[in-house]
Amino acid sequence: MRHAIFLADAIEALLRAPEDVLHSLTGAGDNDWEFWIPVPDRLRCPGLGALANTFRPLTIPGAAVSEFNETTSYLDIVRRAARTLPSGAIVIVTAQFSNEGTTDAGEQVLPLEEWLTLYAQDRSAGYPGPSHDPFIDLARQQLRIRHRLEERMLQVLGHGRYIMGKEIEELEEHLAGFIGVKHAIACGSGTDALLMGLLALEAGPGDAVFTTPFTFFATVETIALLGATPVMVDIDPLTLNIDPEKLEHAVADVMKRGELKPRGIVPVDLFGLPADYDAIRSIATRYDLWIIEDAAQAFGASYKGKRCPSFGTIGATSFFPAKPLGAYGDAGAVFTDDDELAEILRSIRIHGQGVDRYNNIRIGLNARMDTLQAAILLEKLHIYPEEIELRQAVAQTYLDYLRPLAERTGELQLPFIPEEYHSVWAQFSIRTPHFAAIQTALSKHGIPTARYYPVPMHLLDAMAYLGYHRGDLPQAEQAAADIISLPFHPYLTKERIARYCEIIASVFP
Ligand SMILES: Cc1ncc(COP(=O)(O)O)c(C=O)c1O
Repeated sequence: MRHAIFLADAIEALLRAPEDVLHSLTGAGDNDWEFWIPVPDRLRCPGLGALANTFRPLTIPGAAVSEFNETTSYLDIVRRAARTLPSGAIVIVTAQFSNEGTTDAGEQVLPLEEWLTLYAQDRSAGYPGPSHDPFIDLARQQLRIRHRLEERMLQVLGHGRYIMGKEIEELEEHLAGFIGVKHAIACGSGTDALLMGLLALEAGPGDAVFTTPFTFFATVETIALLGATPVMVDIDPLTLNIDPEKLEHAVADVMKRGELKPRGIVPVDLFGLPADYDAIRSIATRYDLWIIEDAAQAFGASYKGKRCPSFGTIGATSFFPAKPLGAYGDAGAVFTDDDELAEILRSIRIHGQGVDRYNNIRIGLNARMDTLQAAILLEKLHIYPEEIELRQAVAQTYLDYLRPLAERTGELQLPFIPEEYHSVWAQFSIRTPHFAAIQTALSKHGIPTARYYPVPMHLLDAMAYLGYHRGDLPQAEQAAADIISLPFHPYLTKERIARYCEIIASVFP
């Protein structure tokens, strides 16, 4: 994506540009350019209304004016402001500034006429080229709500309560309402959320906690950290989530051996797809086990109309920046319907505090979420329902393009979403023996891919003490051997997806 910032006089000149140019600027669906106007400025020219929905305000930050002196021009200030946009921006000017050129920081100053030519060329070229293909495009989302994010962040700077400021409670209310649980407790990360849940349910030495080997390390790490034993259960090869039939066998087996006490289950909603909670909950009830739902990748996904993470005794999620709902740093949250557990979780979040902070009644953590992250998440949550829809549309486009290839070759497994399940598509992951060739072919065109996860948890060095061997959990091992994740974000266009799928198809014999 490229940014064009128009000085006020350039806007006035632009409004005199040919009809079709104006039409293409104001028309919907132009995904390759972002247009900005610096404020304050003198924008009371006729016709501006038509452009108002297309242009975004560029805030002039304090730093840009702090070194202002007689020799600093308005253009210099705008250039410095332009550096706060996610990538090098072009400042569009009228002829009077046309000899300003490019600065050391890379923002280019271009006369309007020249820019219009460039714009026309880009539009007629269609696909904008490889350098525009991020794996997850956080910049586009940021630009969409930038003004509201800035306002929220400035409010925090204004009130100065960086720890447990009012935004934390406001966010917790919104999160609980969105998921449909009684309590949401904001915390420092998804890892903190899991740890808080395990501490609240008193997992410890001698306890067996059943979980999946096909996940991110934090799921098993937190169980192990408290001295409990992660018992890994193989996955369903289609959903890639824990296989409930194998779960039941594993619980019965631990009981028969009698060395560990079965205490709980930590299912993971992998890549945004809820695990099979009908089956898991019935096993939990039968064997008197608690459930901590690891919905780090699935905040807001749903099954039979209920949202993740609302399926466990406690639910945990992550707002790591790349997650479907991401902050601008580490953040997470814990969910529960149980009043007593909620109180314990709130205490654990702040060093096990009791009625006040110097009355510690249990061993806890420093697991608070920063107020700034809560402020950012409040704005992101606002557009999240719409982004979930966009994510589903992007996934559907991928599926539509790839299904014929899967059917023709029989060598491509697409994501499987059972009926009544709605994924939030933290990743779009496909399985194929040709994954390495796909990675190479896409990277030649500057298109990034990732592999989640190349080593299942039971084969990691850190877990060697558990005594697992290759071959113990064959479905997870096979998935680790042939999985690849494609670029995915809510603003990915059909054209780009088509292009990626064309390159993927070229790899198959
Ligand atoms: C399944 C799973 N669990 C836990 C976590 C940990 O979350 P965080 O990175 O916020 O600590 C992640 C994040 O990567 C995850 O994917």
